[in-house]
Amino acid sequence: MPATTASPRSTASARGEAAVAEPAEAEKIEDRARAAARDGTLPAGAPDFAALLRQDPEIAGALLGESARQSDGLQLIAAENFASPAVLAALGSPLGNKYAEGYPGARHHGGCEIVDLAERIAVERAKALFGAEHANVQAHSGSSAVLAAYAALLRPGDTVLAMSLPHGGHLTHGSPANFSGRWFDFAGYGVDEESGLLDYDAIRALALERRPKAIVCGSISYPRHMDYAEFRDIADETGAYLIADVAHPMGLIAGGAAPSPVPYADVVCATTHKVLRGPRGGMILCGGRLAERIDRAVFPFTQGGAQMNAVAAKAVAFGEAATPAFGAYTHQVIANARALAAALAGQGLTITTGGTDTHLITADTAPLGVDARTARGRLAAAGIVLDTCALPCEVREDLAARRTGIRLGTAAVTTQGMGEAEMREIADLIGAALREDGAVRPATVALAHRFPPYPERG
Ligand SMILES: Cc1ncc(COP(=O)(O)O)c(C=O)c1O
Repeated sequence: MPATTASPRSTASARGEAAVAEPAEAEKIEDRARAAARDGTLPAGAPDFAALLRQDPEIAGALLGESARQSDGLQLIAAENFASPAVLAALGSPLGNKYAEGYPGARHHGGCEIVDLAERIAVERAKALFGAEHANVQAHSGSSAVLAAYAALLRPGDTVLAMSLPHGGHLTHGSPANFSGRWFDFAGYGVDEESGLLDYDAIRALALERRPKAIVCGSISYPRHMDYAEFRDIADETGAYLIADVAHPMGLIAGGAAPSPVPYADVVCATTHKVLRGPRGGMILCGGRLAERIDRAVFPFTQGGAQMNAVAAKAVAFGEAATPAFGAYTHQVIANARALAAALAGQGLTITTGGTDTHLITADTAPLGVDARTARGRLAAAGIVLDTCALPCEVREDLAARRTGIRLGTAAVTTQGMGEAEMREIADLIGAALREDGAVRPATVALAHRFPPYPERG
């Protein structure tokens, strides 16, 4: 039962509230778009940077400064990307003015016929892209998606298994600083400290011992594919729900470059930014059986009105991700990450797990005698932006237990059009910056300027 026919809509129909846009309405809207494309018409309220410049130079300056920062350096934060001008246009559109609590055809506000169309398109595109029976595209962020998944399946105090934070779990996987750690009883599994790989036997043993209500598979820094079938087996053996939190690889999954958890997990949570290259936001996929519980866990349980500009921008991103060009992009993202990992090893860094299957690399800077914060600072001075991260085996006497992990990803630089040759250049720049081997910044800027993220705007 696809959740678009789940009870929120039937409840509203019974109340006579539903104002569903008919197919004829959708056609009229498309005709309007075609006419606008012909005549160059912009919708009233379309983004107008000149207006912002005139009215608020402080914020306009921040936009200009950030845009220049993104173009003048190498953006290697694994969670970041450059959304297309079409995605940004939807995000900055008057759809953001519309209040739309509820779901298409079952809103608590009037005037939702048009945004209903946008949300239905987003839902249908997400379902088709990922082969899921149900999609909820309203989650405001990846964390909101995970919160809703827990709300749908768990009760406070339930035991949950997830990757421990030092080994690559996200805050929502049981951090004491997060609602997850406060409201649930988390048990953390980890990776083998030597190989850096998930140890499924150890996970199974922990699950059999703790008998969790849910098992979460997903990570902020695991560079290899996870074995979702193995996780499913463990969940079945122990009577647990399986929640896949694939915020990071969701774009690779969309492009066919990484295995999908959809056939295995009860609920799949993700972000729509990162490799997927949409607006910042979250999404949830599940089977028809859980559709209504998931929808109700998003609204009204954990969120209010959907952000319809973001929902429309997600639809645009799903449309882009369904193209062969996006598939090719995701394969190039991985080829680039592999080339970068190999070249960084050549610079003397130790690459966790010896390489990567994804867009993401974690590396130990200890062999170069620098801790991660120093490394991040030297790289930032060179115009190279990345994150520090925990490493599975970090306590070492030589660096007095200071963190020595860096995490980097190739989604953004691949969107800019860079290939394996540029990854080798980037590794040379990183090596030189870490060794403080001359002035690196001019070479970084020159490389970045050869690949502007928004070339049509110069
Ligand atoms: C595995 C995982 N889950 C959840 C999130 C949270 O996403 P957001 O920052 O949109 O809340 C992230 C973000 O990096 C993530 O990597």
